[in-house]
Amino acid sequence: MSRTLLITGAGTGIGAATARQVASGNQVLIHYRRSAESAESVAAEVAAAGGRPLLIQADLSDESGCREVADFVSRRVGRLDVLVNNAGGLIRRAAGKELSWSLMQEIFALNTFSTMMLTSLCLPLLEKGTQPCIINVTSIAIRHGAPTATIYGASKGAIDVFTRGLAKELAPAIRVNAVAPGVIDTPFHDQVTSREKMAQFQASTPLGRNGRAEDIAHAIGFLIANPFVTGETLDVNGGLFMR
Ligand SMILES: NC(=O)c1ccc[n+]([C@@H]2O[C@H](COP(=O)([O-])OP(=O)(O)OC[C@H]3O[C@@H](n4cnc5c(N)ncnc54)[C@H](OP(=O)(O)O)[C@@H]3O)[C@@H](O)[C@H]2O)c1
Repeated sequence: MSRTLLITGAGTGIGAATARQVASGNQVLIHYRRSAESAESVAAEVAAAGGRPLLIQADLSDESGCREVADFVSRRVGRLDVLVNNAGGLIRRAAGKELSWSLMQEIFALNTFSTMMLTSLCLPLLEKGTQPCIINVTSIAIRHGAPTATIYGASKGAIDVFTRGLAKELAPAIRVNAVAPGVIDTPFHDQVTSREKMAQFQASTPLGRNGRAEDIAHAIGFLIANPFVTGETLDVNGGLFMR
C-alpha cells in the first residue's frame, strides 16, 4: 500500500533520516525551512529508493507558514496518511535568571505552536487518509529536566500532553504518538552544545554512544507501522533516561 507522508524539518537530521526510512513506494512530502540544498539531496535519495518526493519550503514558527504547508498538501495531494511533526530546536540556552519574553515566545512558537497548528490544519487531510497517524518529536528534556534548556523542555512537554489528549480525542480514526529522542548527533547541537558536552553525554549513556538520526527514524517507522499503539511516547535514548 502506497502512503502519503508529510515530514517537517526533513532537510536535515532526524527528519531527513525519517524521509529515507519511509521512502520506498511512498509519496514523501519533504518540508524544509533554510536547508534547501540538503532537502534536494534527501529528495533525490527518496526517489532513488523508489519513493515519490515533493519539496515544501516554509517557516513554521508562525501561523502563515503552517497554513502554506497545509494548503500545499491540500492542493497537490488532497489527503494525508502520516504527519511527522519533527521541525524544532533549542534556539539558545538561557539560565533561569536570563529568561526573556521574546525567547519564550520564539521557543514555544517553533516547538509547540507550530506542531499544534499544523496538526489542526492537517486533520481534515488525515481524515481522508488510510490508517492515518501523527508522530510528534519531543525530547528527553521532558523526562529529566535540562539545565539551561528549561523553556525548550517545557515547550516539548506541552507537546507530550497534547499527544495524549489528541490520541483520546481522535481514536479510533487517527492514532497519535510521540518519540522522545535522547542526545542525537545532528545539526541540532551545532550552536548549542560543545563537543566536550557531547562527550560527557556519551560517557553517561549506558549504551556507550550518542544517538544517530537513524535510531529515531527507526522508532518513528515502528509507530507508523504498529496499528495498536496510540497516546504513547517512545523514549529512544540509549538508556540515558530509564523509567
Ligand atoms: N538532536 C537531538 O539531540 C534531539 C534531542 C531531542 C529532540 N530533538 C528534536 O528532534 C527534532 C529534529 O531535530 P534534529 O536533531 O534532526 O536537528 P536538526 O537537524 O537541526 O533539525 C531541525 C529541523 O527543524 C527545522 N526548523 C528549524 N526551525 C524551523 C522553523 N522556524 N520553521 C520550519 N522548520 C524549522 C530545520 O529546517 P532547516 O534546516 O531547513 O531550517 C531542521 O531541518 C527537533 O524537534 C528537535 O527538537 C533532537
